[in-house]
Amino acid sequence: MRWFLRIIAGLVILVVVVVAALYIVGSAKLSRTYSVAEPALAVPNDSASIARGRHLTVALTKCADCHGAGLAGKIFLNAPPFIIVAPNLTRGNGGVGATFSDSDYARAIRDGVAPDGHGLLVMPAADFAYLSDADLADIIAYVKSEPAVDHRLPATVIRPLGRILLGAGLLPMSDAASIDHTMTHSAAMAPADTVGYGHYVARIGGCLGCHGAGLSGGAIPGLPPSFPKAQNITPAGIGKWSDADIVRALRVGKRPDGSTIDTFMPWPDTALMSDTEMSALVKYLRSVPARPSGTR
Ligand code: HEC
Ligand code: HEC
Repeated sequence: MRWFLRIIAGLVILVVVVVAALYIVGSAKLSRTYSVAEPALAVPNDSASIARGRHLTVALTKCADCHGAGLAGKIFLNAPPFIIVAPNLTRGNGGVGATFSDSDYARAIRDGVAPDGHGLLVMPAADFAYLSDADLADIIAYVKSEPAVDHRLPATVIRPLGRILLGAGLLPMSDAASIDHTMTHSAAMAPADTVGYGHYVARIGGCLGCHGAGLSGGAIPGLPPSFPKAQNITPAGIGKWSDADIVRALRVGKRPDGSTIDTFMPWPDTALMSDTEMSALVKYLRSVPARPSGTR
């Protein structure tokens, strides 16, 4: 009996030590900083550029899905491991717009790095890293054009459970950790009905972020198991769909069999893509190699 208790006590101590170590590793990951330079951008303020920026954010980069209507900020997730807050981006009270420079925006959007150098969580900068300079500038122009909204929110907090999960590698790090911050960006990407433009649309539109770099789907990293899995959208998954079937899925959220696609797949946003973006995206989806489902 005695040494049964001793074994139990030993195991308890071991668990405490491992958990404490994971907590320390997780906290260290969180406090990592990144020093990245973004080239000086010429951010326009004419109405055509602002309109293009708005279109990109509504149909492709979906800023308002996380940052709330009018980009006034919202609590994105409040769960036992963390409170993730997508900040108010306007110039109002509690908004970052009052203090952010154009390069602060560029670093947040394309590098996932805050002005103080820490890596932003959840913000899908690995998708946005591919934005051309011109599209990034138009997006910043649009963000700055949103009316000021006074909306104070708490800061993002990673609770001890979150730090332990982060330490164990069970929660994704900031995208800042995986982005190649030295990559060269195209100056501009002119919309065209080509596979190349479709690839660009798929990247900044998050298709690769959710469906995986190979588009074969599977569980989306960092999300609780209750969330729907992304499906295989390589030719092995939707190869038998006609072009019109793909367009229907992305415009009205219906599969060829008439069933409705969960709105966690952001089809209410992809519905707003231009005809050129849609047609280029379909061409790109046709061009990718078939892969077995769930291999990301
Ligand atoms: C999937 C949700 C999501 C999407 C989509 C998203 N963001 Fe974010 N964003 C966040 C979260 C969450 C944070 C705060 C992260 C943190 O506190 O660590 C953030 C942070 C930021 C910041 C930095 C604010 C600061 O205090 O440093 C800026 C600027 C920003 N986002 C702009 C944008 C823009 C512009 C878009 C669209 C191009 C966008 N975001 C799309 C979730 C998102
Ligand atoms: C936020 C994550 C997310 C993004 C971004 C996203 N998807 Fe999805 N997608 C999903 C999920 C999850 C499903 C499965 C929904 C369900 O089970 O009803 C899905 C389903 C689909 C389907 C239906 C597949 C089938 O076999 O039923 C298609 C087609 C699709 N997505 C294409 C795309 C394209 C193209 C893009 C880029 C423009 C994209 N998705 C962006 C998460 C995403």
